[in-house]
Amino acid sequence: MKISIVGAGYVGLTTAACLAEIGHHVLCSDNDQGKLALLQGGKLPFYEPNLAQLVAKNHQSGRLEFGSTELGIDRSEAIFICVGTPPLNNGEADLSAIQTVAREIAARARGYRLIVEKSTVPVQTARQIKRELALYGSNELDYEVASNPEFLREGCALEDFFHPDRIVVGVESKRAEEQFREIYRPVLDQSFACPVHAECRSRVKPAFLVTDTNSSEIIKHASNSFLAMKISYINLIADLCEASGADVEKVAEGIGLDRRIGRAFLRPGIGFGGFCFPKDLQAFVRIAEKAGCDFSLLREVENVNLARVPKFIEKVRQELWVLRGKKIAIWGLAFKPNTDDIRFAPSLAVVKQLVDEGAHLQVYDPEAMPNAKRQLTGVTFCDDLYSAARGAEAILILTEWEQFQRLDWERLGSLLHRKLVIDGRNMLSPSKEQMAAHGFEYVEIGRGSQASEPAARGTGRTANKMDAPKAVPIG
Ligand code: UGA
Repeated sequence: MKISIVGAGYVGLTTAACLAEIGHHVLCSDNDQGKLALLQGGKLPFYEPNLAQLVAKNHQSGRLEFGSTELGIDRSEAIFICVGTPPLNNGEADLSAIQTVAREIAARARGYRLIVEKSTVPVQTARQIKRELALYGSNELDYEVASNPEFLREGCALEDFFHPDRIVVGVESKRAEEQFREIYRPVLDQSFACPVHAECRSRVKPAFLVTDTNSSEIIKHASNSFLAMKISYINLIADLCEASGADVEKVAEGIGLDRRIGRAFLRPGIGFGGFCFPKDLQAFVRIAEKAGCDFSLLREVENVNLARVPKFIEKVRQELWVLRGKKIAIWGLAFKPNTDDIRFAPSLAVVKQLVDEGAHLQVYDPEAMPNAKRQLTGVTFCDDLYSAARGAEAILILTEWEQFQRLDWERLGSLLHRKLVIDGRNMLSPSKEQMAAHGFEYVEIGRGSQASEPAARGTGRTANKMDAPKAVPIG
């Protein structure tokens, strides 16, 4: 099918490359000429594992082109709107870019078009787009506006596209439903050569859910908010575990074994970030408010998340006492691993707070340094994780990059001024014994038995004293 993707951001570009890979002819456009030039020159405006190769392959084969939105509108049967919906000051999504595209389509398109909103939008946006088309479209334009939310995660977007749990489409006609079946057929049947894995992990056929547009729009916001709620919930439980001598990882395992709950998204830490959860949560609360529904539950999810950074800073203070003048290594800046995205990353809030308090930070992230350099001042950017550790009194882990797991403890120990790791993601828990053997102190989130006295240093034990929990009586 001839498909046009408007918006070459994260969602648009990934969708464009993947749709081309499964056989469609895709034209991807963007109003940022610089971005288009970059793409035409074979470069990506952001980092996503395996995407550069997929774009290059399909660009070379001619199935993926970059060009103007006008051209895309003229020659496509389906137009996917993938433009940004950033937050306004009041938390609502700014839909001006969506309106602009709707008017462009109205002004140019003739004949039938399936117009798909893929960007995350408030409920009833499809209805608004339809109104624009009715008001400004030509009489020769025949169309259906449909919703097809994306559930891709940064860092594993290709895997999520090719092996999704579900594909949701909000449509008003059988014709549009059939078009979507046609577009996604290889994914629905799992009948394509997987470009990500030579031996494909999963060949489970995804569910195909057909709804009305309003429900489809709500599914997207409700999914993200639910996942955010799970994270805040486990973070609250982590606080309780810490205060009462319990172990949040065991608790997460225990509750996650219930299939109704599940183990996913129960990783405690410094909180969720990125360009989706924080903004979608706020937008969803505003949507509900406007509809007269009380979503204070989700406001609390946000409040719990906002409290994660100050709590983590407090943990650092407990370990290091005075922060002014302390040399501290920061490992990880991206809001999650396998991306260079630092938007709304809790790590940035941690860094800014520590800099304000006068700490000397040596920071390192495998991918996010160029973006971080544009935002952070007063820190030393380091070339690798070992340089960041040189002379530091603690390492703070803020993003769980896999490379932070493959460490030369001997070398690391010799570089540090104090062998202390404060792990904001609990990623080094499996290495605890190894760390202890090298004389490291290790502080985690939500492990109540943590003891921070230097007495544990060099004794072959971690700072976690399972036999002597420092439990605070409750109540
Ligand atoms: C999220 C959703 O997972 C996707 O399904 C959705 O398509 C996407 O938003 C979107 O709306 O575009 P993403 O923001 O890429 O994807 O990242 P996640 O893997 O969901 O992580 C979000 C944040 O939650 C990260 O900061 C991560 O560190 C944090 N997190 C995640 C936790 O703190 N604990 C967990 O257990 C899981």
